[in-house]
Amino acid sequence: PDLEKWVDEVPRPGVAEPTGTKEGQPHYEVELNEVEQQLHSDLPPTTVWGYGGQYPGPTIEAEQGEPIYVRWTNMLPDEHLLPEDTTIHPEMIPYDMPGSRVVTHLHGGNVEAESDGNPLAWSTREFEETGPEFEKRDYYYENDQPPATLWYHDHSLGITRLNVYAGLAGFYILRNDHERDLGLPSGEYEVPLVFQDRRFNADGSLFYPTAVPDQDDAAPNLSIVPQFYGDTSVVNGKVWPRLPVEPRKYRFRLLNGANSRFYNLRLLEYDEDAEEAGKAGPSFVQIGNDGGLFAEPVGIDGRLEMGPSQRADVVVDFADYAGETLLVHNDAPAMYTGESGTNGDADALPEVMLVEVGESAVEDDSRVPGTLTEVPEIGLDAVTEERYLTLTQDVDDYGRELYLLGTEEEQSGLGMDDPVTEEPALGDTEIWSFANLTGMSHPMHLHLVHFQVLGRQPVGDYDPAADGIDPEAIATPEPYERGWNDVVSVHAREVVHVAVRFGAHDGLFTDQTGEYMWHCHMIEHEDHDMMRPFRVLSESE
Ligand code: C2O
Ligand code: CU
Repeated sequence: PDLEKWVDEVPRPGVAEPTGTKEGQPHYEVELNEVEQQLHSDLPPTTVWGYGGQYPGPTIEAEQGEPIYVRWTNMLPDEHLLPEDTTIHPEMIPYDMPGSRVVTHLHGGNVEAESDGNPLAWSTREFEETGPEFEKRDYYYENDQPPATLWYHDHSLGITRLNVYAGLAGFYILRNDHERDLGLPSGEYEVPLVFQDRRFNADGSLFYPTAVPDQDDAAPNLSIVPQFYGDTSVVNGKVWPRLPVEPRKYRFRLLNGANSRFYNLRLLEYDEDAEEAGKAGPSFVQIGNDGGLFAEPVGIDGRLEMGPSQRADVVVDFADYAGETLLVHNDAPAMYTGESGTNGDADALPEVMLVEVGESAVEDDSRVPGTLTEVPEIGLDAVTEERYLTLTQDVDDYGRELYLLGTEEEQSGLGMDDPVTEEPALGDTEIWSFANLTGMSHPMHLHLVHFQVLGRQPVGDYDPAADGIDPEAIATPEPYERGWNDVVSVHAREVVHVAVRFGAHDGLFTDQTGEYMWHCHMIEHEDHDMMRPFRVLSESE
């Protein structure tokens, strides 16, 4: 359907309320429901899956150092909203079992393994059936980590792309007093925005492509596509929305919640009558990313790059733009390699949302202090292990293209069901070098930890057998890659080195052991088959 742009206002997801307490801590009970939701004024209501009966789900507001419990209860119908592909890990997934499988992961959470949302810890309606890794109903989030923009989303093995696409995602915002005292824009001037792309059928239903559309019924359902790119921008669950703001500073917690799409963002002046974008508008002043605040704010002069699942905490000052309209513009092509430019790309999605700045001047006593917080550097003196981890492409048994993760020894890639190859111990510092041997960018994510980006170089320039990384040979991280990251974009044919410490350090984070996932966060890739477990051992193991 040809939907008129900039009709509806950007909704705010609202905040989840605890339903009681457990062990003296707030206890949330969040149901996952199938609901009808109006995503555009001219579109019939769309059937979506939502946490708390809404898409995106309600925001969970948590406080650093104050743990909470959340019970995520599946109340979804047995029939999936979208076609499952029963050829994805049939050895691990009971496709003939009735019920929709879901499991919730707190992305960016420094969380115990039993509450991490292992892909095989799924459950069906009201926990009737549970997966082999299922441990408990009430997930425990310790919240002992820097204040940050986290998000929760489904993580069920082999169908995460479909469950998230159906709507299973929401914000989880962690705060503390130090951050509150900074004087950043807050309250109604702090807005979480999740950018996604979708496709719709004329009746308003979600469209998700199928790789082999007209296959005979007896054959396995070969539906998975290598990547998904929608033709419609959806922000906080509204199609091409507009955001009215006052001419003052705002804090935006940006999340790329798309399945596969990268965004390369900038605000442009926009002429609504001519439907034309003009020169650059106000720049983003970035104050944090995935894992919390930066040490100091950084002005983004060019584009702000956001791979799937990356967050950017930014302040924008609209004071000089009273009465003007601005476009949130994306110049990343769909099949992103790290290069901007959408010329001739039919799958590009340049227009994301509109910002309408009010006419009348307002008072603004918010500020962006020159020092935000302390971000201790992960020292490299103590590195115990340097891992060379490959991002590769292959063809599966059905002749379909798939992506894999490998090691220095197994560079052609391993699968989700191969034995664990990464086993750091608590207290270890490691360098993980993601070597992208493919022709497209992949946003690489580690559960549990936050890492620091050391830099990148062409993959051919780095020899994993050599003794360490040559600091002279690597390009320093981008401004938006400072601080604590849990996702890093590894562009085509480059290697990105990150430093990671396992366990509590510098009074930050917690000691957790057990099995966690690392994976590409393009969810089609994660499902097929760019996800691997790693295991954190206790010091004595
Ligand atoms: Cu955002 Cu393994 O997930
Ligand atoms: Cu990928």
